[in-house]
Amino acid sequence: MKLRYFSHSAFLITTGSGIRILIDPFLDANPTSPVKSGDVTAEYIIITHGHGDHIGDAFKIAKRCKSKFICVNELANYCISKGFDAHNMHIGGGHNFEFGRVKFTIAHHGSMTSDNYYAGEPSGVVLSVDGKNIYHTGDTGLFYDMKLIGEMTPIDYMLLPIGDNFTMGITDAVKAVELANPKTAIPMHYNTFPVINADPNEFKKRVEQIGKKCTVLQFGQEIQL
Ligand code: NI
Ligand code: MN
Repeated sequence: MKLRYFSHSAFLITTGSGIRILIDPFLDANPTSPVKSGDVTAEYIIITHGHGDHIGDAFKIAKRCKSKFICVNELANYCISKGFDAHNMHIGGGHNFEFGRVKFTIAHHGSMTSDNYYAGEPSGVVLSVDGKNIYHTGDTGLFYDMKLIGEMTPIDYMLLPIGDNFTMGITDAVKAVELANPKTAIPMHYNTFPVINADPNEFKKRVEQIGKKCTVLQFGQEIQL
């Protein structure tokens, strides 16, 4: 399996069998993404919540690739209302897809779309693909149940925001890593705009100080998991 980080909260997972799962593809209006929407292909698109920096270019990509959305019910219905195919889920529920399992988690945040449609509760997502568990927290503040999420599904990679202002900042994100106890933490949602500037190497240093691993991905970088 491969994991590519575009910047912000946008990731692409490519399974060993070649199925592509795109998460929160904010690319064209994202000043930090080296990749634009026309260069991304995906069979599935997961959106964590309705904000513009998470829906991003999902509809453009889904139109070209005939992608299937996987989201919480209200956001999935929003995608369906725009003419797309979706699999409706909700927080606490998991489902086995052809590429692996998807389970939605809570996130403490908002979820109104840019055209003022209520998109349900914001979410995080745990993906179990090719024998590895990846927890993308979505946009969220720190919450103690991250400990429960990590106990129910031992996490290999935790993708979590460090940019502060709208989400956890570095201090809370380090605590989140302590609670969810992943093998490796990967910071996201930073340096896209000045208000969320944060130093990922400072986060890495502080994660290592609590005895955990952290990998800082460059914008556009792809790694083998
Ligand atoms: Ni948001
Ligand atoms: Mn956001």
